[in-house]
Order: sequence, then C-alpha cells, then structure tokens
Amino acid sequence: MEVTRERAWETLTRHTKSESLRRHALAVEASVRFYARRYGEDEEHWGCVALLHDFDYELHPTLDKHPQDGAPILREEGYPEWLIEAALSHAEHLEMPRDTELKKVLFACDELSGFVHACGLVRPNGLEGLGPKSVRKKLKQPSFAAGVHRDEVYAGAELLGLSLDEHIANIVAALQPIAGELGLRTAT
Ligand SMILES: [Fe+2]
Ligand SMILES: [Fe+2]
Repeated sequence: MEVTRERAWETLTRHTKSESLRRHALAVEASVRFYARRYGEDEEHWGCVALLHDFDYELHPTLDKHPQDGAPILREEGYPEWLIEAALSHAEHLEMPRDTELKKVLFACDELSGFVHACGLVRPNGLEGLGPKSVRKKLKQPSFAAGVHRDEVYAGAELLGLSLDEHIANIVAALQPIAGELGLRTAT
C-alpha cells in the first residue's frame, strides 16, 4: 500500500475519537515533520509514523497492550513493517533499538511536543514568544503537565545531539503553524 497522510489520518480518526489524543498526534506529527525537513527526509512518511504512533491508545490505554497490540491492526490494514516498527519504537517498555533517525526523532518529539503544547495552553498568547527558558522552568515544576516524563524529554534532546534549548525552540517553531488546530490562542 501507499503510505499517505490521508490514509494515516483516516486510520487514526477511526480508532481515536478523543480530541486531546488527536491533538497529541497532530503535535507530534508537526514536530517530526520539522525534523524530516531539516534532515532532508521524506516528510510525509515520517509524519504518518508520528500520526499513528498512539493510534491504538483509546483501544489499549495500558502499557501491557499499548502500543504492541496496535501492530497487528496496522498490519491488517496494510501498513508496511518499517512504519509499524518505527511507531512501536517510541515505547520505552518495548526496549526496541532506536537505530534510525526516524525512531530517534519520534522518541525525542513525543513527550516534548506534549509539554510545549501544555505550556501554550496556559499562556494568553499561546506559543507566541514562548522561549526555551520558560519551558525549562516549567519542566522543573513536577506538578505542571505531570504526565510528561521529564527524563524522556532530556534523553530525547541528547539522542538528537541537540541542546535542550535548541530542541525546545524547534518544537515551538514546529507547533506554531498549527496552533489553531491544537486549540491554542494566537496573537493575531
Ligand atoms: Fe504511546
Ligand atoms: Fe505519544
């Protein structure tokens, strides 16, 4: 089958009704696409992996099933193994090697895009003017977006060989164009 965004979006939205989960998928997609552009990789393919990485979370909200039990569903729908393997690799408990740039980028974008999104939601102008310093400050407040694993945020930047500040700035830039879709206020 041909992996297209249209198809990935259809699969995602058929299995995922929650708006916040759809927004998470969109945020990770935008972030992964940012890095695909930067690395000169296939933006649409990388974006599809990001869109689908948590597609089964509503069906399988626990780690004894997510994301591994989503794999047979994707297989049945005709998705190729490279996409399935990359999507599964985001899960720490599966301990799969992150041996491609795509797997590294997906892991690095998963938690941080959620966190930057959360930062934007509590600011009057959303992501406008949001700098790495204030994101870092919020990372140190355990009660803020408590579900985001800080250790994975730090490990992700390291995996990409970037400073945390650079990685944060990239994610903010990646999310800005889709701020409206993410339910964020914009300055204009
Ligand atoms: Fe996940
Ligand atoms: Fe995720």
